[in-house]
Amino acid sequence: MKGIILAGGAGSRLFPLTLVASKQLQPVYDKPMVYYPLTTLVEGGIREFCLISTPHDLPRFRQLLGDGSAWGLRIDYREQSKPSGIAEAFLIAESFIGKDPVTLILGDNIFYGGDSFHKAFADFQGGATIFGYHVNDPERYGVVEFDAKGQAISIEEKPAQPRSNYAVPGLYIFDNEVVAVTKALKPSPRGELEITDVNVDYLRRGRLRVHRLNRGFAWLDAGTSSSLHEASAYVQTIEKRQGVKVGCPEEAAFRQGFLSREQLEALTVNLPRCEYRTYLENVVAEANRLAQES
Ligand code: TTP
Repeated sequence: MKGIILAGGAGSRLFPLTLVASKQLQPVYDKPMVYYPLTTLVEGGIREFCLISTPHDLPRFRQLLGDGSAWGLRIDYREQSKPSGIAEAFLIAESFIGKDPVTLILGDNIFYGGDSFHKAFADFQGGATIFGYHVNDPERYGVVEFDAKGQAISIEEKPAQPRSNYAVPGLYIFDNEVVAVTKALKPSPRGELEITDVNVDYLRRGRLRVHRLNRGFAWLDAGTSSSLHEASAYVQTIEKRQGVKVGCPEEAAFRQGFLSREQLEALTVNLPRCEYRTYLENVVAEANRLAQES
């Protein structure tokens, strides 16, 4: 499974913050926003990534994440010259996807809790898998309607009259056909290649699975000033209470076995003195203790 992180867009709702840095580089409590979606996919076992952003912002992402090798990952980069829709990612990343299935995650979506994604990656056998999450304001999103048996029967993009409260979060798993499906799409009236149209194509062909995410799961989208602030407050609350970090790619890569204990230790000692370093030192110390005991 390959992973695409889509981190372009205009970020107009976050203006003037986005004059300083792109939306997905803004801080969410103690780390850049893009760390969270990256960590979500690493936790799902994905190791090869393509990050897509604007020509203006791409160099900054490259500077931040490099080629991924420090974290046991591979990260490629591609430009999206203008925001022509989420589904355009599959065309931009066609050569990166090759013959593999692919997961697309939006760079401003933050997920926390449970193993729903992990299970979905493990169970994925083709077609498409997307998710449904109960929200208060479904009209802002793609909305999925279920029948009495829990089967998805319709998906609509930003409907004025939503048929349910289930929004589709920005994490989508597709088989390799997604590239051909996207090539056959026409831009929507707003001029974008719509991810909802890709999902509808899979639904029509009986190839779409929609998992409803349970109540204990958090999905935050950090696209407005107040949702960005709320996301920071949420992460701070969890981290303070539990003493674990949300969205720490180094730790996720270590727990997935992409980084050895020695490699994690070596990269930790090179960090400046800060809370983030102390946290990783504790992860290393705990791993050393467990290794000695076994
Ligand atoms: P949006 O939040 O819908 O759009 P935006 O980021 O441009 O923000 P605004 O509406 O405030 O101008 O995009 C959702 C995510 O998808 C976000 O991470 C940006 C990304 N995106 C792209 O990278 N390219 C695109 O063509 C589109 C439509 C979105």
